[in-house]
Amino acid sequence: MEESFDRTAAFDLADKLETEKDLTDAEFASVLLCDDPGFDEYLAEKARTIREKYYGKSVYLRGLVEISNICKNNCYYCGIRRDNANAERYRLSEEQILDCCDAGYELGFRTFVLQGGEDPYYTDDLIVSIVSAIKERHPDCAVTLSLGEFEKDSYQKFFDAGADRYLLRHETADKEHYEMLHPAEMSFEHRMQCLKDLKDIGYQVGCGMMVGSPYQTTEHLVKDLRFLKEFRPEMVGIGPFIPHHDTQFAEHEAGTVDMTLRLLSVIRLLLPDVLLPATTALGTIDPRGREKGILAGANVVMPNLSPSDVRGKYLLYDNKICTGDEAAECIRCMAMRISSVGYETVVARGDHVSFGIE
Ligand code: SAM
Ligand code: FES
Repeated sequence: MEESFDRTAAFDLADKLETEKDLTDAEFASVLLCDDPGFDEYLAEKARTIREKYYGKSVYLRGLVEISNICKNNCYYCGIRRDNANAERYRLSEEQILDCCDAGYELGFRTFVLQGGEDPYYTDDLIVSIVSAIKERHPDCAVTLSLGEFEKDSYQKFFDAGADRYLLRHETADKEHYEMLHPAEMSFEHRMQCLKDLKDIGYQVGCGMMVGSPYQTTEHLVKDLRFLKEFRPEMVGIGPFIPHHDTQFAEHEAGTVDMTLRLLSVIRLLLPDVLLPATTALGTIDPRGREKGILAGANVVMPNLSPSDVRGKYLLYDNKICTGDEAAECIRCMAMRISSVGYETVVARGDHVSFGIE
């Protein structure tokens, strides 16, 4: 009896989340803890219905250029942290970055995401120069930066140069948990301030967290969901934590596919028009992870455009996929994967569209 009561309660909460686009903290916790196998499919079906209402069957492509794996930070979970003496370091020149974008444009990309460690080689002026050059060559494209924390005036300069979007995962909305994942030199408050500054400037902002990061509890995830609802990012990047052998979290367990998919569906219902990527990390812990992500409500994928000789060096975690393929190969493979689950990759900037949902 009790088992069927739990099942009904959780399914009712999914219905409530769908109609009210929010739940109480205790209700979110029940949704995250429900272990009925039919529940994830029930949530995913609702998530697909709502994503199709706003975005149809389209999946947006973002061309990812990993510009540098040199980082001044030391996040405990990250394979490119400064203290990892075994990482083989590289950085791309402005010319190399522009070449990647030119090649990506030919392949049909209309959004370029420049991501990298916090590498002081890229001064404000250099980033401004790179962003301006991309916009000059490809005025119909969106430029997304994911280069970590800066002060507001730097973010403003990049925006003025033409950057449209900025991805900066909040990593966790709980200060104590943040401090368990980062050394004392990094600050939760500064990370949150950066997100606020980016929004104030006018970027389309992406935040997000790892799923199953060390010491993460259900309460932390509930706080993340609450933060997402309040902050209202245009994009939410989530993926499983995956250990990297050269970090102090090497022995910690990876996040699970199931919890990542459940959170993708919950986030789709919570923020119906949000841009939601099916990430490389999800594709790394499950060979069909990205397809499953699309079926759980995701609507963005980010094939890799980095030059093939540096691909194998941007290793945030172990066993990362797509480190050997050429860009053209990556996009073909991605288009096939997406169509295998009944969706289609589209050539478009894929801006966030606000459908005026409260
Ligand atoms: N430096 C920029 C920043 O901090 O936003 C961008 C690069 S950073 C490496 C990109 C993201 O990778 C981080 O926000 C983090 O969530 C994710 N990441 C790092 N290490 C990871 C790991 N071991 N498993 C899964 N994701 C990881
Ligand atoms: Fe580079 Fe975390 S190790 S930002």
